Amino acid sequence: MRAITFKETGGPEVLHLADLPTPTPGPGELLIRVAYAGVNYGEVQHRLGDFGSPTGDTVTGLEAAGHVAELGEGVTGVSVGDRVTAYLPDGGGYAEYAVVPAAFAFPLPDTVDLRTGGGAALVLTTAYGVLAGAARIARGDTVLIHAAAGGVGGAAAQLARALGASAVYGTASTPQKAAYARDTFGYDDVHVRETFPESILAATAGRGVDIVLDPIGGPTRLASLDVLAPFGRIAVYGEAARHPDLTLPILPLWKNNRTLTGYNIGDLSRRTPETLRHHALSALSLAASGDVRIDITEEYELGEAAEAHRLLGEGRNRGKVVLRVAGE
Ligand SMILES: NC(=O)c1ccc[n+]([C@@H]2O[C@H](COP(=O)([O-])OP(=O)(O)OC[C@H]3O[C@@H](n4cnc5c(N)ncnc54)[C@H](OP(=O)(O)O)[C@@H]3O)[C@@H](O)[C@H]2O)c1
Repeated sequence: MRAITFKETGGPEVLHLADLPTPTPGPGELLIRVAYAGVNYGEVQHRLGDFGSPTGDTVTGLEAAGHVAELGEGVTGVSVGDRVTAYLPDGGGYAEYAVVPAAFAFPLPDTVDLRTGGGAALVLTTAYGVLAGAARIARGDTVLIHAAAGGVGGAAAQLARALGASAVYGTASTPQKAAYARDTFGYDDVHVRETFPESILAATAGRGVDIVLDPIGGPTRLASLDVLAPFGRIAVYGEAARHPDLTLPILPLWKNNRTLTGYNIGDLSRRTPETLRHHALSALSLAASGDVRIDITEEYELGEAAEAHRLLGEGRNRGKVVLRVAGE
Protein backbone atom coordinates (compact mmCIF):
# COMPACT_ATOMS: atom_id res chain seq x y z
CA MET A 1 0.00 0.00 0.00
CA ARG A 2 1.04 3.65 -0.43
CA ALA A 3 1.97 5.42 2.79
CA ILE A 4 3.80 8.55 3.88
CA THR A 5 6.72 7.60 6.10
CA PHE A 6 9.69 9.16 7.83
CA LYS A 7 12.84 7.47 9.13
CA GLU A 8 14.48 10.48 10.73
CA THR A 9 13.10 13.55 12.44
CA GLY A 10 13.34 16.96 10.78
CA GLY A 11 11.56 19.35 8.42
CA PRO A 12 8.68 18.41 6.10
CA GLU A 13 11.25 17.08 3.58
CA VAL A 14 11.78 13.95 5.73
CA LEU A 15 8.28 12.77 4.70
CA HIS A 16 8.36 10.35 1.74
CA LEU A 17 5.80 8.37 -0.20
CA ALA A 18 6.67 4.68 0.22
CA ASP A 19 5.25 1.26 -0.63
CA LEU A 20 4.65 -0.70 2.60
CA PRO A 21 2.96 -4.03 3.33
CA THR A 22 -0.73 -3.64 4.19
CA PRO A 23 -1.04 -4.10 7.97
CA THR A 24 -3.06 -6.97 9.46
CA PRO A 25 -5.53 -6.31 12.30
CA GLY A 26 -4.74 -8.23 15.50
CA PRO A 27 -7.26 -9.34 18.14
CA GLY A 28 -9.58 -6.47 19.06
CA GLU A 29 -8.47 -4.37 16.08
CA LEU A 30 -9.86 -3.54 12.68
CA LEU A 31 -8.43 -2.53 9.33
CA ILE A 32 -9.73 0.63 7.67
CA ARG A 33 -9.43 1.47 3.99
CA VAL A 34 -8.63 5.16 4.45
CA ALA A 35 -10.70 7.67 2.47
CA TYR A 36 -9.36 10.82 4.13
CA ALA A 37 -6.82 11.43 6.90
CA GLY A 38 -6.76 14.53 9.11
CA VAL A 39 -3.56 16.57 9.40
CA ASN A 40 -2.85 17.64 12.96
CA TYR A 41 -0.30 19.79 14.72
CA GLY A 42 0.63 16.76 16.84
CA GLU A 43 1.87 15.05 13.66
CA VAL A 44 4.12 18.03 12.91
CA GLN A 45 5.55 17.64 16.43
CA HIS A 46 5.87 13.86 15.89
CA ARG A 47 7.90 14.53 12.71
CA LEU A 48 10.04 17.10 14.53
CA GLY A 49 10.91 14.53 17.22
CA ASP A 50 8.99 16.12 20.13
CA PHE A 51 7.59 12.67 21.05
CA GLY A 52 10.83 10.70 20.55
CA SER A 53 12.76 9.32 17.59
CA PRO A 54 11.20 7.09 14.92
CA THR A 55 12.19 3.44 14.73
CA GLY A 56 12.36 2.41 11.08
CA ASP A 57 9.67 3.48 8.61
CA THR A 58 7.19 5.46 10.71
CA VAL A 59 3.71 6.38 9.48
CA THR A 60 2.21 9.30 11.36
CA GLY A 61 -1.48 10.28 11.28
CA LEU A 62 -3.70 10.32 14.35
CA GLU A 63 -7.13 10.31 12.71
CA ALA A 64 -8.75 8.99 9.55
CA ALA A 65 -12.11 8.05 8.09
CA GLY A 66 -12.93 5.28 5.67
CA HIS A 67 -14.59 1.89 5.28
CA VAL A 68 -13.91 -1.11 7.50
CA ALA A 69 -11.90 -3.56 5.35
CA GLU A 70 -11.23 -6.42 7.78
CA LEU A 71 -12.09 -7.41 11.36
CA GLY A 72 -9.52 -8.77 13.81
CA GLU A 73 -10.34 -11.68 16.09
CA GLY A 74 -13.08 -11.01 18.65
CA VAL A 75 -14.34 -7.74 17.14
CA THR A 76 -18.13 -7.43 17.24
CA GLY A 77 -20.66 -4.66 16.66
CA VAL A 78 -19.11 -3.48 13.41
CA SER A 79 -19.09 -4.99 9.90
CA VAL A 80 -16.85 -4.92 6.86
CA GLY A 81 -17.94 -1.99 4.69
CA ASP A 82 -19.15 0.21 7.58
CA ARG A 83 -18.17 3.89 7.44
CA VAL A 84 -16.08 4.87 10.46
CA THR A 85 -14.02 7.75 11.75
CA ALA A 86 -11.11 6.66 13.93
CA TYR A 87 -8.62 7.97 16.43
CA LEU A 88 -5.32 6.19 15.78
CA PRO A 89 -3.30 6.22 19.03
CA ASP A 90 -0.22 4.74 17.33
CA GLY A 91 -0.50 6.80 14.15
CA GLY A 92 -0.79 5.19 10.72
CA GLY A 93 -3.40 7.50 9.17
CA TYR A 94 -1.25 8.75 6.26
CA ALA A 95 -1.69 5.48 4.37
CA GLU A 96 -4.14 3.56 2.19
CA TYR A 97 -4.90 1.18 5.08
CA ALA A 98 -4.69 1.74 8.83
CA VAL A 99 -5.13 -0.59 11.81
CA VAL A 100 -7.06 0.74 14.82
CA PRO A 101 -8.25 -0.69 18.14
CA ALA A 102 -11.98 -1.32 17.59
CA ALA A 103 -12.78 0.84 20.66
CA PHE A 104 -11.44 3.90 18.80
CA ALA A 105 -13.32 3.37 15.53
CA PHE A 106 -16.59 5.30 15.74
CA PRO A 107 -19.58 4.93 13.40
CA LEU A 108 -19.64 7.94 11.08
CA PRO A 109 -23.12 9.55 11.23
CA ASP A 110 -25.00 9.53 7.88
CA THR A 111 -25.04 13.33 7.88
CA VAL A 112 -21.21 13.55 8.00
CA ASP A 113 -19.25 12.82 4.81
CA LEU A 114 -15.98 10.90 4.77
CA ARG A 115 -13.95 14.05 4.01
CA THR A 116 -15.24 15.76 7.14
CA GLY A 117 -14.96 12.50 9.07
CA GLY A 118 -11.28 12.32 8.14
CA GLY A 119 -10.66 15.42 10.21
CA ALA A 120 -13.12 14.64 12.99
CA ALA A 121 -12.08 11.86 15.37
CA LEU A 122 -9.05 13.42 17.05
CA VAL A 123 -10.22 17.03 17.11
CA LEU A 124 -13.78 16.34 18.30
CA THR A 125 -12.68 13.85 20.96
CA THR A 126 -9.95 16.19 22.20
CA ALA A 127 -12.15 19.28 22.24
CA TYR A 128 -14.90 17.42 24.10
CA GLY A 129 -12.45 15.82 26.53
CA VAL A 130 -10.67 19.09 27.33
CA LEU A 131 -13.97 20.87 28.02
CA ALA A 132 -15.95 18.15 29.79
CA GLY A 133 -13.20 16.01 31.30
CA ALA A 134 -10.35 18.39 32.15
CA ALA A 135 -12.11 21.76 32.54
CA ARG A 136 -15.40 20.31 33.89
CA ILE A 137 -17.46 22.84 31.95
CA ALA A 138 -20.73 23.83 33.63
CA ARG A 139 -23.77 25.64 32.25
CA GLY A 140 -23.16 29.41 32.21
CA ASP A 141 -19.35 29.20 32.18
CA THR A 142 -17.36 31.67 30.11
CA VAL A 143 -14.58 30.16 28.01
CA LEU A 144 -11.40 31.47 26.35
CA ILE A 145 -9.85 29.33 23.60
CA HIS A 146 -6.29 29.93 22.39
CA ALA A 147 -5.48 28.93 18.78
CA ALA A 148 -9.15 29.71 18.17
CA ALA A 149 -9.00 29.34 14.39
CA GLY A 150 -7.47 25.84 14.38
CA GLY A 151 -8.83 22.32 14.19
CA VAL A 152 -9.33 21.63 17.90
CA GLY A 153 -10.04 25.32 18.64
CA GLY A 154 -12.85 25.62 16.10
CA ALA A 155 -14.49 22.44 17.35
CA ALA A 156 -14.06 23.48 20.99
CA ALA A 157 -15.80 26.83 20.44
CA GLN A 158 -18.94 25.15 19.12
CA LEU A 159 -18.84 22.33 21.69
CA ALA A 160 -18.46 24.84 24.52
CA ARG A 161 -21.62 26.57 23.33
CA ALA A 162 -23.45 23.24 22.98
CA LEU A 163 -22.36 22.31 26.53
CA GLY A 164 -23.87 25.49 27.95
CA ALA A 165 -21.14 28.18 27.83
CA SER A 166 -22.62 31.66 28.19
CA ALA A 167 -19.79 33.35 26.28
CA VAL A 168 -16.93 31.98 24.16
CA TYR A 169 -13.85 34.07 23.40
CA GLY A 170 -10.76 33.16 21.43
CA THR A 171 -7.26 34.28 20.57
CA ALA A 172 -5.39 33.94 17.29
CA SER A 173 -1.98 35.14 16.11
CA THR A 174 -3.28 37.58 13.47
CA PRO A 175 -6.34 39.80 12.93
CA GLN A 176 -7.14 37.80 9.76
CA LYS A 177 -7.25 34.50 11.64
CA ALA A 178 -9.26 36.15 14.42
CA ALA A 179 -11.84 37.37 11.88
CA TYR A 180 -12.03 33.92 10.25
CA ALA A 181 -12.57 32.22 13.62
CA ARG A 182 -15.23 34.75 14.66
CA ASP A 183 -17.14 34.36 11.39
CA THR A 184 -16.85 30.57 11.15
CA PHE A 185 -17.18 29.14 14.64
CA GLY A 186 -19.59 31.50 16.41
CA TYR A 187 -17.25 33.07 18.96
CA ASP A 188 -18.53 36.11 20.83
CA ASP A 189 -15.18 37.67 19.98
CA VAL A 190 -11.68 36.63 18.98
CA HIS A 191 -8.69 38.75 19.99
CA VAL A 192 -5.13 38.98 18.75
CA ARG A 193 -3.12 36.90 21.19
CA GLU A 194 -0.36 39.41 21.83
CA THR A 195 -2.64 41.70 23.85
CA PHE A 196 -5.27 39.21 25.05
CA PRO A 197 -5.13 39.75 28.84
CA GLU A 198 -6.21 43.38 28.47
CA SER A 199 -8.89 42.64 25.86
CA ILE A 200 -10.38 39.68 27.76
CA LEU A 201 -10.52 41.60 31.03
CA ALA A 202 -12.17 44.49 29.18
CA ALA A 203 -14.69 42.15 27.50
CA THR A 204 -15.62 40.57 30.86
CA ALA A 205 -15.78 43.81 32.89
CA GLY A 206 -12.67 42.74 34.80
CA ARG A 207 -14.06 39.39 35.98
CA GLY A 208 -12.07 37.14 33.65
CA VAL A 209 -13.24 33.74 32.38
CA ASP A 210 -14.14 30.44 34.03
CA ILE A 211 -12.16 28.30 31.59
CA VAL A 212 -9.06 28.81 29.43
CA LEU A 213 -8.14 26.14 26.86
CA ASP A 214 -4.40 26.36 26.27
CA PRO A 215 -2.54 24.34 23.63
CA ILE A 216 0.13 27.05 23.18
CA GLY A 217 2.25 27.19 26.38
CA GLY A 218 5.03 29.58 27.44
CA PRO A 219 4.11 33.25 27.94
CA THR A 220 0.52 32.61 26.76
CA ARG A 221 0.04 30.05 29.54
CA LEU A 222 1.54 32.37 32.13
CA ALA A 223 -0.61 35.33 31.06
CA SER A 224 -3.71 33.14 31.06
CA LEU A 225 -3.48 32.82 34.85
CA ASP A 226 -4.29 36.53 35.07
CA VAL A 227 -7.59 36.24 33.22
CA LEU A 228 -9.12 33.53 35.43
CA ALA A 229 -12.31 34.34 37.34
CA PRO A 230 -12.54 32.87 40.88
CA PHE A 231 -12.44 29.03 40.62
CA GLY A 232 -11.35 29.41 37.00
CA ARG A 233 -9.56 26.49 35.31
CA ILE A 234 -6.74 26.50 32.74
CA ALA A 235 -6.84 23.26 30.78
CA VAL A 236 -3.36 22.59 29.36
CA TYR A 237 -3.34 20.28 26.35
CA GLY A 238 -0.48 21.18 24.06
CA GLU A 239 2.81 22.99 23.48
CA ALA A 240 2.30 24.43 19.99
CA ALA A 241 4.79 27.25 20.55
CA ARG A 242 7.40 24.67 21.71
CA HIS A 243 8.61 26.90 24.56
CA PRO A 244 10.50 25.29 27.46
CA ASP A 245 8.13 23.98 30.17
CA LEU A 246 7.11 26.44 32.88
CA THR A 247 7.96 26.12 36.56
CA LEU A 248 5.32 27.84 38.65
CA PRO A 249 4.91 28.53 42.36
CA ILE A 250 1.83 26.77 43.79
CA LEU A 251 0.79 29.27 46.46
CA PRO A 252 -0.73 31.75 43.96
CA LEU A 253 -3.18 29.00 42.96
CA TRP A 254 -4.40 28.94 46.56
CA LYS A 255 -4.32 32.71 47.03
CA ASN A 256 -6.25 33.41 43.82
CA ASN A 257 -8.70 30.47 43.63
CA ARG A 258 -7.10 29.14 40.43
CA THR A 259 -6.96 25.63 39.00
CA LEU A 260 -4.53 24.10 36.48
CA THR A 261 -5.69 20.94 34.79
CA GLY A 262 -4.43 18.82 31.90
CA TYR A 263 -5.70 16.69 29.04
CA ASN A 264 -3.86 14.03 27.04
CA ILE A 265 -5.69 11.71 24.67
CA GLY A 266 -2.83 9.20 24.50
CA ASP A 267 -2.93 8.71 28.27
CA LEU A 268 -6.73 8.28 28.12
CA SER A 269 -6.40 5.69 25.34
CA ARG A 270 -4.15 3.57 27.57
CA ARG A 271 -5.83 4.07 30.95
CA THR A 272 -9.51 4.69 30.28
CA PRO A 273 -10.45 3.88 26.67
CA GLU A 274 -14.15 3.79 27.59
CA THR A 275 -13.98 7.48 28.64
CA LEU A 276 -12.30 8.38 25.38
CA ARG A 277 -15.02 6.51 23.43
CA HIS A 278 -17.77 8.23 25.42
CA HIS A 279 -16.26 11.66 24.64
CA ALA A 280 -15.92 10.77 20.95
CA LEU A 281 -19.51 9.52 20.58
CA SER A 282 -20.92 12.49 22.50
CA ALA A 283 -19.08 14.94 20.25
CA LEU A 284 -19.96 13.03 17.08
CA SER A 285 -23.65 13.13 17.93
CA LEU A 286 -23.39 16.94 18.12
CA ALA A 287 -21.66 16.91 14.72
CA ALA A 288 -24.44 14.67 13.36
CA SER A 289 -27.12 17.13 14.48
CA GLY A 290 -25.25 20.07 12.95
CA ASP A 291 -24.48 21.77 16.28
CA VAL A 292 -20.76 21.35 15.58
CA ARG A 293 -19.30 21.83 12.12
CA ILE A 294 -15.77 21.02 11.02
CA ASP A 295 -14.56 23.53 8.44
CA ILE A 296 -12.28 21.77 5.96
CA THR A 297 -10.25 24.58 4.40
CA GLU A 298 -7.50 22.64 2.62
CA GLU A 299 -7.32 19.26 0.94
CA TYR A 300 -4.03 17.69 -0.24
CA GLU A 301 -3.33 14.42 -2.01
CA LEU A 302 -1.61 11.78 0.15
CA GLY A 303 1.66 12.37 -1.72
CA GLU A 304 1.51 16.08 -0.81
CA ALA A 305 1.66 15.49 2.94
CA ALA A 306 4.89 17.51 3.22
CA GLU A 307 3.06 20.57 1.83
CA ALA A 308 0.31 20.13 4.41
CA HIS A 309 2.98 19.93 7.13
CA ARG A 310 4.60 23.13 5.85
CA LEU A 311 1.25 24.91 6.20
CA LEU A 312 0.69 23.76 9.79
CA GLY A 313 4.34 24.08 10.86
CA GLU A 314 4.39 27.71 9.77
CA GLY A 315 1.07 28.43 11.50
CA ARG A 316 -0.62 29.39 8.19
CA ASN A 317 -3.50 26.89 8.61
CA ARG A 318 -7.11 27.70 9.51
CA GLY A 319 -9.90 25.29 10.26
CA LYS A 320 -9.09 21.71 9.30
CA VAL A 321 -6.62 20.31 6.77
CA VAL A 322 -7.11 16.81 5.31
CA LEU A 323 -5.23 14.40 3.04
CA ARG A 324 -7.26 12.70 0.32
CA VAL A 325 -6.38 9.02 0.17
CA ALA A 326 -9.11 6.92 -1.53
CA GLY A 327 -11.58 9.83 -1.40
CA GLU A 328 -15.38 9.47 -1.17
N1 LIG B 1 -3.45 16.80 24.52
C1 LIG B 1 -4.00 16.13 23.54
O1 LIG B 1 -4.44 15.01 23.71
C2 LIG B 1 -4.12 16.79 22.19
C3 LIG B 1 -4.85 16.18 21.17
C4 LIG B 1 -4.97 16.85 19.95
C5 LIG B 1 -4.36 18.09 19.77
N2 LIG B 1 -3.63 18.62 20.79
C6 LIG B 1 -2.99 19.93 20.65
O2 LIG B 1 -3.97 20.87 20.29
C7 LIG B 1 -3.37 21.91 19.56
C8 LIG B 1 -4.18 22.17 18.32
O3 LIG B 1 -4.02 21.05 17.45
P1 LIG B 1 -4.56 21.13 15.96
O4 LIG B 1 -4.06 19.92 15.27
O5 LIG B 1 -6.00 21.43 15.97
O6 LIG B 1 -3.74 22.35 15.37
P2 LIG B 1 -4.27 23.78 14.91
O7 LIG B 1 -4.81 24.52 16.08
O8 LIG B 1 -5.15 23.60 13.72
O9 LIG B 1 -2.91 24.43 14.44
C9 LIG B 1 -1.93 24.77 15.39
C10 LIG B 1 -2.07 26.25 15.78
O10 LIG B 1 -1.17 26.50 16.83
C11 LIG B 1 -0.86 27.88 16.83
N3 LIG B 1 0.56 28.10 17.08
C12 LIG B 1 1.05 28.74 18.15
N4 LIG B 1 2.38 28.78 18.11
C13 LIG B 1 2.77 28.18 16.99
C14 LIG B 1 4.01 27.95 16.40
N5 LIG B 1 5.16 28.33 16.96
N6 LIG B 1 4.02 27.29 15.21
C15 LIG B 1 2.89 26.88 14.63
N7 LIG B 1 1.66 27.09 15.18
C16 LIG B 1 1.60 27.75 16.34
C17 LIG B 1 -1.30 28.43 15.46
O11 LIG B 1 -2.46 29.24 15.69
P3 LIG B 1 -2.29 30.83 15.83
O12 LIG B 1 -1.87 31.29 14.47
O13 LIG B 1 -3.58 31.34 16.27
O14 LIG B 1 -1.20 31.02 16.85
C18 LIG B 1 -1.66 27.21 14.68
O15 LIG B 1 -2.66 27.44 13.75
C19 LIG B 1 -1.93 21.49 19.29
O16 LIG B 1 -1.09 22.12 20.23
C20 LIG B 1 -1.96 20.00 19.53
O17 LIG B 1 -0.72 19.49 19.91
C21 LIG B 1 -3.51 17.99 21.98
